[in-house]
Amino acid sequence: MNVIIAGSPRKGRYSDRIAEKIKETIGGEIIHARDLSVGQCIACGYCKGKGNGSCFQKDDMQDVIGKVREAECVIIVSPIYWWQLTGTIKPIIDRLYALRAEEWKGKKLAFVLNGSETNENDREYALLRDQGKEMADYIQAEYAFLGVGTADDEEEAFSRTLEKVRDFALTL
Ligand SMILES: Cc1cc2nc3c(=O)[nH]c(=O)nc-3n(C[C@H](O)[C@H](O)[C@H](O)COP(=O)(O)O)c2cc1C
Repeated sequence: MNVIIAGSPRKGRYSDRIAEKIKETIGGEIIHARDLSVGQCIACGYCKGKGNGSCFQKDDMQDVIGKVREAECVIIVSPIYWWQLTGTIKPIIDRLYALRAEEWKGKKLAFVLNGSETNENDREYALLRDQGKEMADYIQAEYAFLGVGTADDEEEAFSRTLEKVRDFALTL
């Protein structure tokens, strides 16, 4: 099972279409971060202690954590905001801290990020690729990254981007 967590606050645009393309290509469930009510991780340590992998906050994250636990591949799809993932998706990533390292082992973690920078060799994609790799190494998950530029509002250019997304998804 693939879990696709999509982090754009903007409905129906690039990230949403990228998430749909991944689902169409390899299947899975799309979870839109913007639709969830998720509290901030407060670093209380409950999930690592008494909570034994569960958070004290009983919100939409309970369902997400359950799905991620079952998933073979977790795909984070997000626009790039200020050289980072969006604030919409970040609380979800933080709350995934509840998963024990051994629960990540053998799973694949993929980042598919889009920014208005169309030069895909730009340093922002390299920075984000490396940042994701550090996370994946820490939890001992397999890692894959795709960064795409989506500035050109032309449908034709974006359809080529979606082909790249499809090819990448097939490698997961
Ligand atoms: C607040 C903000 C910050 C942004 N920062 C970056 C950035 O650092 N690098 C970049 O390439 N694009 C940046 N962008 C452009 C978005 O990443 C781009 O428009 C993206 O395709 C939006 O995805 P969406 O269509 O799913 O909303 C930024 C956009 C916003 C609104």
